[in-house]
Parts: sequence; structure tokens; C-alpha cells
Amino acid sequence: MVIEVILSMKIAVVGSGYVGLVTGACLAEAGHKVFCIDNDPAKIRSLRKSQVPFYEPRLQAILSRAQASGHLKFTSSYSSALKEVKAIFLCVGTPPTKSGKPNLNYLEQAITSISQSCEPKKTIAIFIKSTVMVGANAYAQKYLKKISKFHNKLIFASNPEFLKEGNAVMDFKHPERIIIGTDNTYIKDLSRKIYKKFDHNPSIIQFTAVESAELIKYSSNAFLATKISFMNEISRLCDAVGANIDEIKAGMGADTRIGNKFLNAGLGFGGSCFPKDLDGLIMNYKDSGLESKIAEAAKHVNASQLGYFLQKIESNITLKNSTLLVWGLSFKPETDDLRESISIKLIKTLSKKVKNIYVYDPVSMKNGKKLLSDLHNVIFLKHQYEKIGGCDALILATEWKQFQNPAIEKLLKLKNRLVFDGRNFLNSELLKENNLRYVGIGKK
Ligand code: UDX
Repeated sequence: MVIEVILSMKIAVVGSGYVGLVTGACLAEAGHKVFCIDNDPAKIRSLRKSQVPFYEPRLQAILSRAQASGHLKFTSSYSSALKEVKAIFLCVGTPPTKSGKPNLNYLEQAITSISQSCEPKKTIAIFIKSTVMVGANAYAQKYLKKISKFHNKLIFASNPEFLKEGNAVMDFKHPERIIIGTDNTYIKDLSRKIYKKFDHNPSIIQFTAVESAELIKYSSNAFLATKISFMNEISRLCDAVGANIDEIKAGMGADTRIGNKFLNAGLGFGGSCFPKDLDGLIMNYKDSGLESKIAEAAKHVNASQLGYFLQKIESNITLKNSTLLVWGLSFKPETDDLRESISIKLIKTLSKKVKNIYVYDPVSMKNGKKLLSDLHNVIFLKHQYEKIGGCDALILATEWKQFQNPAIEKLLKLKNRLVFDGRNFLNSELLKENNLRYVGIGKK
């Protein structure tokens, strides 16, 4: 019990979005006393009732348990949250600006509020978990020095997150690596105590230079995005030469140097991270007077993959006066996040060309209605097969599990018996055996 007490400490988390809530809830469940701060009083009110404002599996349960045990509290007041605090995690949004650089306004606001509310002369670690460009930690330290006379007691460190939406709680609790960018011994000791419960083997925590930690985040996401764009480019060659992308994925993935993950060709990558982080990395190169041919190429291929898929649709169906059924709105399964969703881009493009589009998504309908309300020919369904008999073709845009083995007899009601599989997710052989026309990406 004594060890538990020593390792448990008071922690504040600024920003109650995807990263902040998962971080706060998991650290609280690990025994720390966590205060999540957000400047939106309405959000604080609903979080105090354990209402999570977005879909993220397991988060609701862990958050309710942590609150019930008294280890997790929500507040808008920095002073109450920062009293006796040992560490602060900055998990505020760093949305892209027009140039592609992440906007640091929320980070600056958080640093200002911290400097005005924390107890002077108390050493406090500030971990920047928000995704930032290389150099942001150094900038934050300079910014703090400019606005506060107690700046030498607030020590910044980089602690990037590697949480996948839809699996964020598991990714936090079972990390493959915890990266801490610092050269400060106190911060290193504190990090070990904070992450003790997650440090499942000696090599999980990696201490690096601050700039390395910042660049590990960008490099990881850009590399994953590059894997995806590489496979999307190969998928086009597959269509041209009659190869099968699924076979290529299996053949490549058997090589442990390549790995068998993130080799799925399809509509391309969306979400609030890959596109933004690719842009941020490209800007880091530009600011250093360097070119980033590979990152640029990954971005370019991704930007053109939707157009490639649209060509396939237009060469198989006359869009004018047609009615289409689209399954999936979210940028990936197990989330209701529509940010940079390729499905949304697809629907917006098709809406101008067709008579009607019926859409269905297991959890994203509310967000979809907000985003697509101006498109009068986009109709939201009650279930995935509603109106299917009135549709010319089906487009699968997001690979939700519940779409994987569709009822064949229902698909046969499609007027053209035509299925466009934007994620190569369906069993093409089974569909073709049942007289359905199947169009995938890099596969017949
Ligand atoms: C990503 C990183 O994986 C995570 O480590 C980081 O912390 C945040 O960004 P996320 O954006 O939540 O996570 O989703 P991810 O599962 O990485 O998928 C990103 C996009 O790539 C989705 O649009 C997905 O559909 C697409 N994708 C993924 C592919 O097109 N092919 C694949 O093989 C894998």
C-alpha cells in the first residue's frame, strides 16, 4: 500500500478532448489523483455526469469508475486543479493553420493560465502531449519566460501520444513505447513514477532529446501514411496489370521487415492526425530549408485516391439521375469522428452528380447530419438496408464490422446489383458467385 501512495501523485490534464480524456481517465485508474481542466463549462458539466461527448470504446466505463473512486475530477478552475500538482499534461488542440503549421494558440492560452494559477516556487513538470512541430517545446519555454517570473520552476518536456481513435484506451494502457523528450533528471524520475503502471517492460519508456521526441511523433505518423499511400499506388498498378492487392498485401506482410499492418489499400487516409501531421512535417522540412519528397508524395497519392475511386464508379454507372447507397461516414471504424473523412468528401462530390444518396453509419449519423445538412439529396437511413431496393448501387466507404457479411438477398435488390468496395472489405468472390457485380481497388 505504501508503494502505491508514493507512486500516486496529483496530476492535471489541460484539454478534455480525445487525448486529454483518455490520458486523464487512464492515469486516474492507475491510482493518480487527476484533475481534467477544460474552458468549456458545458463540457465540464456533462463530463461530471460521466457523459463523454464522442464515441470511443471503453472510455465511458473507465471514466465513470475513475470518477466514482474519487481519482478523477473535472473543473474549469486552474487554481483548484493546480494546487499541490506535480505534473501537468497539455492535451489541447493544435489544429492546422492555412500554411500547414499547427496552431499553437490554445497551447499559449494554457501556458498563460498555468503561469497565473500555479503556486510560485513549486517545481512542476509540464508534458506537451499535443502534437506539435519540432521546436514547439523550446518555443513554449521561451513563451513562458516572456510572461512569467516563476518560469524556472515550470519545466517542459515532450510526451507525444500514439493513441489510435477507436482503440485509444487500450493503446494508452498497453503502450508499445512511451517517449519522453527531456534532459532533466527530475523529469525522468517523475515520468517513471507517473507511468509505473504502464511500464510493462524496461524498454517501454524511452528518454530522448526534446526535438527527437517531437520528431518521433511526426515521423511515425508520416511513415504509416506513406505505407498506406504506397499500397494505394500499388493498387492502381494491380488494376492495370490484373494483380490482386490482397495477395500482394499477404505476400509483402509476411516479411517482418515490412510488417502486415497498415497495408490496406482503399479510399486513403483521413482523420485529424495523418493529414495534419504530414503537413506539419512538410513545414518542418521547409522551415529547415529542406525538401520532403517522400512525405509530399504520400500526401499527393492520398489526395488523388478518391478521384481514382470516383473514376471507377463513373465507368460502371451513369451517375445522372442515379440513387446510391453509402455505408460508413466516419474516417475509420469504431469512431464517430468525421474530420477529414474520405467518405464525407465522396458524398459531397457525388451529391452534385446524382439524384439521391442514402447514407448509413452505425454511430456517426448525428455528426453526419450536422456536416451534410446543406445537401438536400443526402438522406439519412434508420438501418443499412432501408431503401436498398430503390438504389442503383452500394458504396462501402468505412469498414465497420457490421458491414462485413451483408445479407446477399438484400444486396440483390440493388437495381444494378452493383457494389463498390472502397475499403476492399467485402468477400468479392462470394458476391460475384451470387450474381452481384463487385468493384474493389486493386482487386477484381
Ligand atoms: C493515427 C495513428 O495510427 C496513431 O498512432 C496516432 O496517435 C494518431 O493518428 P488514427 O488517425 O486514429 O491514428 O487512425 P488510424 O487507425 O491510424 O487510421 C488513419 C487513417 O488511415 C484512417 O482513415 C484509416 O482508414 C486509414 N488506413 C489505415 C488505411 O487507409 N489503410 C490502412 O491500412 C490503415
